[in-house]
Amino acid sequence: MFDDANIARALHVLGVVLWIGGVGFVTTILLPAVGRMKNPRERVSFFESIEGRFARQARGTTLLVGVTGFYLAHQFDLWDQFTQLESWWLPAMVFVWAVFSFMLFIAEPLFLHRWFETRAATKPEATFRLIQRMHWILLLISLVTVMGAVAGSHGG
Ligand code: HEM
Repeated sequence: MFDDANIARALHVLGVVLWIGGVGFVTTILLPAVGRMKNPRERVSFFESIEGRFARQARGTTLLVGVTGFYLAHQFDLWDQFTQLESWWLPAMVFVWAVFSFMLFIAEPLFLHRWFETRAATKPEATFRLIQRMHWILLLISLVTVMGAVAGSHGG
């Protein structure tokens, strides 16, 4: 039961639950609440100050999911399957991971945070809507990938 691959798989799913669950909470609960509570000028900076803590946690879970994911692919020798259409969920996982990694480790700290703040000063409503739309897109592709990965890795 407790061989290396099973432990890696358990940690992989644990990371996915914390990370994508957090994205689900931010998208479906936190953002709509901030939209109702705050006036348009305050929304973006208030949201960014709260999401900062989640972003730190998401950096950790993204690393855990990436390390365990590549370890699993290596252990099960799945590299050939990455190019097969019926295993679309394998490249989809790497795609979701790469998009989040880029946002969390490169775009956010280097320019995205500052860009949102500057844009929010002149277009507060449009900037908040853009943040909401981006979260919905990321959440939906993540959920489709989770469904595909569970069904696909269990013979679906
Ligand atoms: C570097 C990125 C990733 C790699 C290399 C990777 C690789 C893998 C591998 C090799 C498996 C086991 C497949 C099998 O048992 O045949 C797996 C399972 C899984 N992965 Fe990933 N993964 C990555 C990122 C992600 C992401 C971002 C998500 C969520 C959106 C995710 C969700 C899952 C799920 C739900 C399973 C199924 C676990 C189960 O039901 O047994 N993975 N992954």
